[in-house]
Amino acid sequence: SDQWDLKILCMGAGYVGGPTMAVIAKMCPKVRVVVGDISQKQIDAWNTDVLPIYEPGLLDCVKESRGRNLFFSTDLDKEIDEADVIFISVNTPTKTQGIGAGAAANIKNCELCARHIAKIATSSKIVVEKSTVPVRTAEAIARILAANEKSDVTFQVLSNPEFLAEGTAMTDLMNPDRVLIGGPQTPAGLAAIETVAKVYATWIPRAQILTTNLWSSELSKLVANAFLAQRVSSINSISALCEATGADVSEISRAVGMDDRIGKRFLQPSVGFGGSCFQKDILNLVYLCETYGLQPCADYWRQVIQMNDFQKKRFSEKIVSSMFNTVTGKKITVLGYAFKADTGDVRETPAMFIVRDLLQENAKIHVYDPQVTREEMWLEMNYTCGVNHETNPRLDEHVVTATDPYEACKGSHAICIMTEWAEFKTYDYQKIYDAMEKPAFLFDGRLHLDHKALREIGFEVHAIGKPD
Ligand code: NAD
Ligand code: UGA
Repeated sequence: SDQWDLKILCMGAGYVGGPTMAVIAKMCPKVRVVVGDISQKQIDAWNTDVLPIYEPGLLDCVKESRGRNLFFSTDLDKEIDEADVIFISVNTPTKTQGIGAGAAANIKNCELCARHIAKIATSSKIVVEKSTVPVRTAEAIARILAANEKSDVTFQVLSNPEFLAEGTAMTDLMNPDRVLIGGPQTPAGLAAIETVAKVYATWIPRAQILTTNLWSSELSKLVANAFLAQRVSSINSISALCEATGADVSEISRAVGMDDRIGKRFLQPSVGFGGSCFQKDILNLVYLCETYGLQPCADYWRQVIQMNDFQKKRFSEKIVSSMFNTVTGKKITVLGYAFKADTGDVRETPAMFIVRDLLQENAKIHVYDPQVTREEMWLEMNYTCGVNHETNPRLDEHVVTATDPYEACKGSHAICIMTEWAEFKTYDYQKIYDAMEKPAFLFDGRLHLDHKALREIGFEVHAIGKPD
């Protein structure tokens, strides 16, 4: 009827909605793509050149289509009515209270989107779950939509989980291992799957676009994240054994990973995995197993999180015990605060747990991260650890955020590498060493730096899974 082949709305302009829609808009100039959100602040930022999230390549991609076929808006009523296809890409955090608190995923935002769509829509829509949800959520969404639909309006509900990783979102989206689309195995359901598949097929080979039933699609997403996190916990468990025995965890990763059946990737030991999804999605899986009476399956997956907690705790304890069992009053520098490199995201970042533990030991902490803002740091610290200015009145004095890494390290007793930012490799460590208290400790939680060179300078280096 108008100039567009298809009109897409994405509800939720976050780490997934923003980048995913920017890539669809770039690759499909004849598709009108609107990214909508209830947060005016978030949408305003998407309409400037200081985007609300940091992701390499994202700004260029957004600028290419913004105002052409890519729009950011809070006018959800208008855009719901216009759209042919509506993606739901809202946050689905772990419930913090009520039934299933601490494990079940809270899907209230998805339900609110479904109710909003049902209320507004005057024409038929394809509604696509992009958020990560418990298996059978599509059934709830379909029932809410059906119970509220007006005559002549029908809804098809699909599942199209997202597999991008932060820091590499743009290349992941341009070149995904696979795209997964689940839907009802009815003529109308299959037609809806084809409508969405065609969008992706603009740039992704058909062989990589998998179609399944709804429940397989929803569950595959949880399983993929559980398997990835399990690999990290597996290698981290071995890192502890390496420290005890004199084996070197990097040599083990290489030796084990060269077996094609095991594979090289995701065997990098660390201070623990972070990010908004691994823990949340495993807990979601654990809760599902429990709901269906499969306690041994629940216990099996919960162990992946317990190992991760052990790894984070072990790291803080190592810092304190190496530094003569006290860090009280000592300046400790945390280099890197994001949960991985090339993102400013701090959700569930392992650095936060180390800082929390060091705060309890009364250390003076100085944090440097090239992308993390102090505001984001405190928001997450408060949300996840309950540490805020009320519970810790002298927080600003005890945790300083630096804008210069050399300033952050000056006069420090120890440096902790918490994120594998490339720039950390380029620093003048002689200069840093010279300005530190001695002995100068360095704790490498990412196996990121050249330990031999650091030891030659004089640092006392402690690294995950390595002999001291
Ligand atoms: P996010 O918190 O960055 O963004 C979610 C956005 O949804 C927020 O801006 C929020 O204001 C908005 N929102 C909430 N309720 C809304 C409503 N009713 N209508 C419109 N907008 C609403 O979350 P995210 O990281 O983009 O994750 C979204 C989903 O994708 C989650 O289920 C997550 O598990 C999944 N996921 C995330 C990643 C990732 O790397 N972050 C990767 C794959 C999948
Ligand atoms: C992860 C998955 O990789 C994505 O496929 C998925 O879409 C996403 O979760 C999601 O559902 O949110 P992400 O959390 O962005 O992506 O980043 P990862 O690269 O998976 O890293 C997660 C954490 O594990 C980071 O803290 C990282 O440092 C850590 N990690 C990763 C390791 O400690 N070792 C490794 O070998 C790999």
